[in-house]
Amino acid sequence: MKNLIEINNKIKAFDKNIEVTGDKSLSIRCVLMASQAIGKSKIYNLLESEDVLNSLKAISKLGIKYRKLKNYYEICGFGINGFHYKKNIKINAGNSGTLARLILGLLIDAKKELTLIGDKSLAKRDFSRVTEPLRLFGAEIKSNNGKLPVKILGSKFLRPINYFENIGSAQCKSTVMLASLKTPGITKIKAKKSRNHTELLFKTLGLPIKIIQKKNHDYFYLKGENNFKSFNYRIPGDISSCSFFLVLTILSNNSKLTIKNVNINKSRTGIISILNKMNAKIKFKNIKSYKNEPIADILVESRKNLKAINCPRNLNSSAIDEFLVIFLVAAKAKGASIFRDLGELNQKESPRLDIAIKFLKMIGVKVLKNNNNIKIYGNPNLNLRGNFVMKHFRKDHRVFMMSCVAALTFGGNWKIHDKDSINTSFPEFFKIIKSLGAKKF
Ligand code: S3P
Repeated sequence: MKNLIEINNKIKAFDKNIEVTGDKSLSIRCVLMASQAIGKSKIYNLLESEDVLNSLKAISKLGIKYRKLKNYYEICGFGINGFHYKKNIKINAGNSGTLARLILGLLIDAKKELTLIGDKSLAKRDFSRVTEPLRLFGAEIKSNNGKLPVKILGSKFLRPINYFENIGSAQCKSTVMLASLKTPGITKIKAKKSRNHTELLFKTLGLPIKIIQKKNHDYFYLKGENNFKSFNYRIPGDISSCSFFLVLTILSNNSKLTIKNVNINKSRTGIISILNKMNAKIKFKNIKSYKNEPIADILVESRKNLKAINCPRNLNSSAIDEFLVIFLVAAKAKGASIFRDLGELNQKESPRLDIAIKFLKMIGVKVLKNNNNIKIYGNPNLNLRGNFVMKHFRKDHRVFMMSCVAALTFGGNWKIHDKDSINTSFPEFFKIIKSLGAKKF
């Protein structure tokens, strides 16, 4: 079977309610934290995508048992010293930067040498951003010039560190937080703002963490070597998966959509602030709080008078995975939109900033790039004809789904390759698109 999808029609008007699958960041964090808890944790609505399934496989290689029961996963942990290290364990993180980086934090006291590998895309990504702080804890780690494979042979004498996280990467911050669990004394972190799920989960689980929030940075004090009890957690919907439907609705005609039960943590909702500044009308309803995380239904509708944005840099980290679809809205807005300091986009599953620029040029949108800043000249009458092929070598799930949204809203005859990439984060993508009326999905 061909691993591509052909789209030759715009999507027709729809008015629907949908639900997206569980949040990927929270799913991976819950699996890893349950592996460190004492007893049986129950995780409901766990995202069953490859990145999360690889997280379950990873902990099971370390001796942690899990099973899927009726509507939850049960994970049985033995505490923070509960991993069982056999000889020559190889952990394959597949496509997941989050799993690969975070699990290294839990392995700084590994008792036998372990190897971490991943797929072709992950092999191109930087690991020095986490191996460097982990070495300061005293862990013995080798890498292939900052890339995979990473070999880790823990340390018997861990010491707490003072760490300055200055990329704005939640993965780096969280890796150090997880390492602090294993380390005696107080680990101190000063971190640029980034998604805060790990610290909220630490609080929910009763771990000793002190957080001081300042305008640009957060300060953390984490006391290590504390065991904690197993927990139950119901994962809310993933705003990053939602983003494709938000933009699909905004860019299609006369459509309305409600997306139920989505995590609307402020450190993740940059896309909503950005799109509303561009004249979208996205609203929250039924806001609730669950284990320190806010959840709501999101209401969105089609918009005609979209306007360009001069995007404030301080929204970059809370929209980091959503810029590909945000650029589609900029392509259809009146005026030239400016986005700055987006170098981190080129550190993702594929070089997303470079790919987005190529993509926009392919569909006839004028784009200028200066360092890591881009200017997109929008065209409110953007309407495509002719043939388009989207193929790129890193098979990035978000590039694939963004291309589908462009094809369904801008028109043209499309062949979009690597449809199986959706399994990384959002296997239900086709099912939901189909439920909105798209043909041939
Ligand atoms: C993630 C953090 C982000 C994001 C990734 C998931 C996480 O990466 O791009 O998809 O779950 O912590 P960085 O923290 O490296 O920016």
